[in-house]
Amino acid sequence: MEIVITPDYGSMSRTSAAIIANEIRRKHDLVLGLATGDTPVGTYRELARLHREEGLDFSKITTFNLDEYLGLAPVHKNSYNQFMWENLFKHVNMSPHRAFVPQGNTADPEVLSEWYEQQIRKAGGIDLQVLGIGRDGHIGFNEPGSSFASRTRVKGLYEQTIKDNARFFASEADVPRFAITMGVGTILEARKILLIASGAGKAEVCHEFIEGPVTSQVTASALQLHSFAIVVLDEEAAAKLKRKEYYNWIRDNKHVVQKQIGR
Ligand code: PGA
Repeated sequence: MEIVITPDYGSMSRTSAAIIANEIRRKHDLVLGLATGDTPVGTYRELARLHREEGLDFSKITTFNLDEYLGLAPVHKNSYNQFMWENLFKHVNMSPHRAFVPQGNTADPEVLSEWYEQQIRKAGGIDLQVLGIGRDGHIGFNEPGSSFASRTRVKGLYEQTIKDNARFFASEADVPRFAITMGVGTILEARKILLIASGAGKAEVCHEFIEGPVTSQVTASALQLHSFAIVVLDEEAAAKLKRKEYYNWIRDNKHVVQKQIGR
């Protein structure tokens, strides 16, 4: 994993947006996996700015969101579908037909989950998957104990996740208890992975998934098994990393090697 520590939320957002923009410029029909939550809001704002001011073209890309609350219709104000439209899709020239979010109010979650996996395969697989991380170490809604082989399916939310996400709802009781989420296995098949994290509340879990053992108790630790994963985090989220100096040294010196191999 490449660990990129940035000073604050703003620079984390600009750095991660620059990585995504670079991939879109390299491949105009990129298949992009997307995440929701507070963390990527700044990244999406910066991508919208790059579209507006620098003509970053989203017209040929396909997106797949990681997850959606079970039972919420796509038009529900708390749905992740709405989140994506508010925070990114309506600000760029995306084709609505190629913006996939699991349908939360599906009559048959099992059929929907299989269909979602098929759509990912039909699109040629995910080129770059953007991830946030929950305080319990989840990626998507793959709560502690999720198999690393898991595919898109319904997952029950962990108590801490329900508490953390209550801020978006009228009360904790209103937070759906289940979600449809890509599995850890689905996520690991993405060609590249970008995980972003911000704030002191994520410091402990960032240490755990980056420097601790690979375990389904911290599903983000599965990224240690991926051949191309970048983690962009701010100073607060990086505060408990033991090998911070090493990561910073790599960040500041990798251009030397890149120059030598002519990249
Ligand atoms: P957050 O959520 O960005 O709102 O902290 C991250 C997550 O739960 O994956």
